[in-house]
Amino acid sequence: MGFTVSIDGPAAAGKGTISKAVALHFGFAHLDTGLLYRAVGAKVLEGAEPLAAALALMADDLDNDTLRRPEVAQAASKVAALPAVRAALVDFQRSFAARVGGAVLDGRDIGTVICPEADVKLFVTASAEVRARRRFAELSVKGLAQSFDEVLADVQDRDARDMGRADAPLKPAADAIEIDTSDMAIEDAVAAAVALVEAKGA
Ligand code: CDP
Repeated sequence: MGFTVSIDGPAAAGKGTISKAVALHFGFAHLDTGLLYRAVGAKVLEGAEPLAAALALMADDLDNDTLRRPEVAQAASKVAALPAVRAALVDFQRSFAARVGGAVLDGRDIGTVICPEADVKLFVTASAEVRARRRFAELSVKGLAQSFDEVLADVQDRDARDMGRADAPLKPAADAIEIDTSDMAIEDAVAAAVALVEAKGA
């Protein structure tokens, strides 16, 4: 089995940027597991039944600009609370994690449920205001502008749902290393993550 890095944390904490940079640095493959839930959520918004959508998910479904839309994020967090949907997505995530060349997976439950044996577990956080500010900037660049208050409400709403669900709630694994990026530039957060992964023998 290859080297596995799990990166979990709340909405818009910078997991995506950090995961991509870690994967690039070490030559590992990267899976943004949030995209799986977003793709299921998008199908549900189009009228599909959640479990059927999860079971029928194809690689192409993940390559879609609409998945970043705020309404899809909300739909993702709702389907993510359904145990049957989560169960349907486990095998794909675990086989990705076992890739020979190494893998970085980011999400909410990677260190706790999907890859409890990961070689390095990071938990990336920041205050809700800082996360909402970063997401507001990202969405504005993509022309998906909401008001700052709407972005903050989305982040807080999803965090509460993701932390409060019974199945695979968002929380750090007991052996996860926390990186609070509230007062860090994203480049410094990336450098900290790379150093931690290196220190674990990657
Ligand atoms: O990019 P952002 O942090 O805003 O969200 P995301 O990682 O794309 O995840 C969207 C939603 O999918 C989250 O709010 C969670 O409800 C759900 N999710 C999950 O339950 N488990 C994961 N491993 C990844 C995402």
